[in-house]
Amino acid sequence: MRGKFITLEGGEGAGKTTQIKLLGEYLTQKGIETVLTKEPGGTPIGQELRSILCTGDKDKIDAVAEALLYYADRRIHVCQKILPALNRGAWVISDRFADSTMAYQCYGYKDRISKDTLNELYKITVGDLKPDLTIILDIDPKIGLARSLERNASSQIQETRHEGRALEFHQNLRNGFLEISKTDSRYAVIDANCPVEELHKKIVRLIESRISDA
Ligand SMILES: Nc1ncnc2c1ncn2[C@@H]1O[C@H](COP(=O)(O)OP(=O)(O)OP(=O)(O)O)[C@@H](O)[C@H]1O
Ligand SMILES: [Mg+2]
Repeated sequence: MRGKFITLEGGEGAGKTTQIKLLGEYLTQKGIETVLTKEPGGTPIGQELRSILCTGDKDKIDAVAEALLYYADRRIHVCQKILPALNRGAWVISDRFADSTMAYQCYGYKDRISKDTLNELYKITVGDLKPDLTIILDIDPKIGLARSLERNASSQIQETRHEGRALEFHQNLRNGFLEISKTDSRYAVIDANCPVEELHKKIVRLIESRISDA
């Protein structure tokens, strides 16, 4: 049987990477083969694209170039990693997917790229595949950015290109995710401003209520 495809979305510092690891451990303990992955950079070529997209000056490329690079990364990710895993029955949990491109390149930049264009790119590169569940971790960007800054300072992370954008961008992004969440029943929004363990329990409860064989 085909595996389940779950994506975690949300702004900087919402807790996606922290939660995906906990979720992976939880599902593995339940005996489910779980593939944890991320965008950009879920494949070796994707890692090279990630370096272009996530490091350096925030204005070095514009939203159009970004969207095309994110979709190139996604095409390789879907073809080489996500579909093969789902087809052998594994569950795939991705730290960001297409909703991030919609939120950042359309809403973050205030309609810099139209929804129709991004939806067309989705059709060309991803086709019919859709996540079974998309969990949006919602947080006030001031809190999320403060978490990210603290994390980056303590681990010398170089991937600060998006954190460097104005607060208004991050507020647009948050509103974008909330707007997107209203467009399909596969979305669930969770308040991420709570302790790590509490958030993990909320995510587990959500998955058990939404996915029948969880
Ligand atoms: N629920 C939480 N409460 C407080 N701090 C948290 C919580 N979850 C994660 N953190 C801390 O906040 C920082 C950011 O978390 P994490 O890297 O998981 O966020 P992210 O959503 O993956 O961010 P990014 O979009 O930048 O990749 C980390 O230092 C992490 O330890
Ligand atoms: Mg992360």
